[in-house]
Amino acid sequence: MRLRILLIPLLQVVVGDTLPEVSEYFGGTVTLPSGVNPSWTLTKIEWSIFSNNTYIASYRNNVSKVNRIPQYKGRLSMNISSGDLTIHNLTQNDAREYTVELSTEEEKVLNKIKLTVKKRLQKPNIHTQVWVPGTSTKGGCWVEAHCSSPDKDVDFSWKTKPVSVTTLRNPDGTPALLLVFLNTTQNYAEITCISSCKTENSLSAVNITCEDDKIPPAPQPQLQHRSRQSVFFVTGVSVGIVATIIITILFGENIKKAWETLKGNLCTP
Ligand SMILES: *[C@@H]1O[C@H](CO)[C@@H](O)[C@H](O)[C@H]1NC(C)=O
Ligand SMILES: *[C@@H]1O[C@H](CO)[C@@H](O)[C@H](O)[C@H]1NC(C)=O
Ligand SMILES: *[C@@H]1O[C@H](CO)[C@@H](O)[C@H](O)[C@H]1NC(C)=O
Ligand SMILES: *[C@@H]1O[C@H](CO)[C@@H](O)[C@H](O)[C@H]1NC(C)=O
Ligand SMILES: *[C@@H]1O[C@H](CO)[C@@H](O)[C@H](O)[C@H]1NC(C)=O
Ligand SMILES: *[C@@H]1O[C@H](CO)[C@@H](O)[C@H](O)[C@H]1NC(C)=O
Repeated sequence: MRLRILLIPLLQVVVGDTLPEVSEYFGGTVTLPSGVNPSWTLTKIEWSIFSNNTYIASYRNNVSKVNRIPQYKGRLSMNISSGDLTIHNLTQNDAREYTVELSTEEEKVLNKIKLTVKKRLQKPNIHTQVWVPGTSTKGGCWVEAHCSSPDKDVDFSWKTKPVSVTTLRNPDGTPALLLVFLNTTQNYAEITCISSCKTENSLSAVNITCEDDKIPPAPQPQLQHRSRQSVFFVTGVSVGIVATIIITILFGENIKKAWETLKGNLCTP
């Protein structure tokens, strides 16, 4: 039988070094799409790596083999109808180019795909801001903390130490924001931001007090720090007023109740 050999690169990427690419976290599970035309009935699937085409998974004569080489042993599964290859428990070593050769009764296709393995979650960054002690609040101060992460699509949660410190969180939206009330007797707390993505998480902690100068300096250029400080000073009072209004709007008449519930450690386990 004469085979019609076609070279159809996945997702139409033909020339140059740009290959279709998939990316997943270290330890995660990724499915490499074969790029097959869904109408095809595959008679042969061969996934290989390296320029010498070392086979790692194959489907020939109705027999599927996914434990062909030690590096991937127990970590591969192949869908024989779609030709897709799934790799479990990703390691840094799995990041490479993969080749898949697909055959039907009449046709043969070669596709390539590149897998990148992302590093574990990076530490989140916490930025804090004291709301002018003494002016809008009596007997303490509010500290506003923002958490951000260099990684995309992460969820944020918070922990405070001691847990008895009063905290408020935006109930409907910005979980990356935490408001902490420090009173004159408990003028110190350690706050921890936890960023998480699926089963992974990463955390950072900072200590806060009502006195600006006792807060450990944020790791940012001096100029930016100074200009930020002066901006905070000028707008401090209005920020306090606006914040009070926002909190009142957010919590309305339930403010007392909300405070009770929000006291202490708010982290979901
Ligand atoms: C194919 O290449 C890889 C990496 O260069 C090498 O480790 C492996 O031994 C080679 N396999 C054969 C059969 O030559
Ligand atoms: C593969 O399996 C199908 C259905 O189970 C069967 O019709 C076909 O003859 C088998 N082919 C080979 C090469 O064993
Ligand atoms: C994959 O990781 C899970 C959880 O760490 C572990 O239980 C399992 O044995 C691993 N499987 C392989 C094939 O390494
Ligand atoms: C295999 O691929 C087909 C076609 O994409 C899909 O319908 C089916 O659910 C897949 N099977 C598994 C076990 O993922
Ligand atoms: C200050 O806060 C701590 C911890 O929440 C609390 O135990 C204490 O009673 C508070 N003191 C005053 C004066 O409100
Ligand atoms: C916060 O202060 C406590 C007690 O002084 C200290 O043990 C802890 O390491 C500090 N945490 C940070 C993030 O600086």
